[in-house]
Amino acid sequence: MRIVLGVGGGIAAYKVASLLRLFTEAGHQVTVIPTEAATRFVGVATWEALSGNPVSNSVFDDVEKVNHVRLGHEADLIVVAPATADLLAKAATGQAGDLLTNTLLMAHGPVLFAPAMHTEMWQHAATQANVETLRSRGVTVLEPASGRLTGADSGPGRLPEPEAIFTAAMALAEAATEADSPQAVPATHASLAGRTVTISAGGTREALDPVRFLGNRSSGKQGAALAAAALAAGATVRFLAAHMDVEPPAGVELVRVESALELREAALKAAVDSDVVIMAAAVADFRPAEVSDTKIKKVDGEDAPLVRLVRNPDILHELVERRNAEGGQQLIVGFAAETGDAQGDVLEHATAKLKRKGCDLLVVNHVGVGRVFGQDDNSVVILSGHGADPESASGSKADVAAAVVDRVGSELARVFPGR
Ligand code: CTP
Repeated sequence: MRIVLGVGGGIAAYKVASLLRLFTEAGHQVTVIPTEAATRFVGVATWEALSGNPVSNSVFDDVEKVNHVRLGHEADLIVVAPATADLLAKAATGQAGDLLTNTLLMAHGPVLFAPAMHTEMWQHAATQANVETLRSRGVTVLEPASGRLTGADSGPGRLPEPEAIFTAAMALAEAATEADSPQAVPATHASLAGRTVTISAGGTREALDPVRFLGNRSSGKQGAALAAAALAAGATVRFLAAHMDVEPPAGVELVRVESALELREAALKAAVDSDVVIMAAAVADFRPAEVSDTKIKKVDGEDAPLVRLVRNPDILHELVERRNAEGGQQLIVGFAAETGDAQGDVLEHATAKLKRKGCDLLVVNHVGVGRVFGQDDNSVVILSGHGADPESASGSKADVAAAVVDRVGSELARVFPGR
């Protein structure tokens, strides 16, 4: 594949040398186009040596090759990393002052931007409007990762890891090839390119007092694996993280929540313009009726306090009701942790739950103490609310996540073909 790798003028340019290596080691032909500012961070010699191709950032070099037209026209994929606020603005307004911006205007294949900048620049209304404009034109703009920035401060604005950019770029190119091919398989894991997927993960914590809570054993590993799989399938991922034992993958739009009520608020908000919502979080069904403002103390001679619980709202059910009321075309996926009992086996309980919740897909885990929660492997059955046969998937949580994301892509195309 012919790739143009545009490099913006930010400190994260040094990380893009690793991204370039990932592309060349995978056998791709890469032409690097650094902006003038980018060459202040990493010199032309580095890009030439690593890509094995000549590097220029001027429209006036090798004029006879008409590079300002040819490079964008011929590229199967254009990746811009780090995409600075300046580059996003130039791309959104169609400026063409240098070789990279000319190339972007000539792009015939998919384009992916991996932004990196200071948090305030990323969150500025101007930058967000530029990102919206680019996305509305079908350009993929990854969410920056959160973490330590150039100085001592931290927040969203870090360049996603080179591996994450590589995976997203490959999935995007694959999706574009399939869309172009008449023999395209309609549903594959890459069919989420350009889609927005909201994923909740981890376990909610329901406060009893400032130091204690009721929680559950969810590690968030399956939710994190789902987010990674959805990113790899080209989706923009909104990740609603309750308590997790693992870090969310880089590149997601991260919202941290604690309780079921906080998760409900975040989920209803994120779902508004999402194509898919996956509720993988273990949501507490009950919360303490009263939350003490001060630490609950034991008092000698008094009985232990009784904790009264009240029901939490069923977020999944509410999402489905709202979608149905609005006539929306949003695919909603639930997870169910089930055990068999005297009333029925795991699948019987799960089928009843699928009906009760009204979601489109239900991913069913068979649980018992020590099974599934916190472990690295998983085995699930995916039930469809639209009549398709149940499908099993097992293996690592990444394998299961890939199977679920694959199924989400195909179900989306089947249930809402016009979307
Ligand atoms: N869920 C939710 N809101 C809740 C409880 C659960 O959105 N208050 C979602 C979970 O994220 C999951 C699905 O519902 O996708 C199934 O959760 P589960 O706890 O297994 O089912 P319950 O509805 O709680 O049923 P039960 O406890 O009766 O098995």
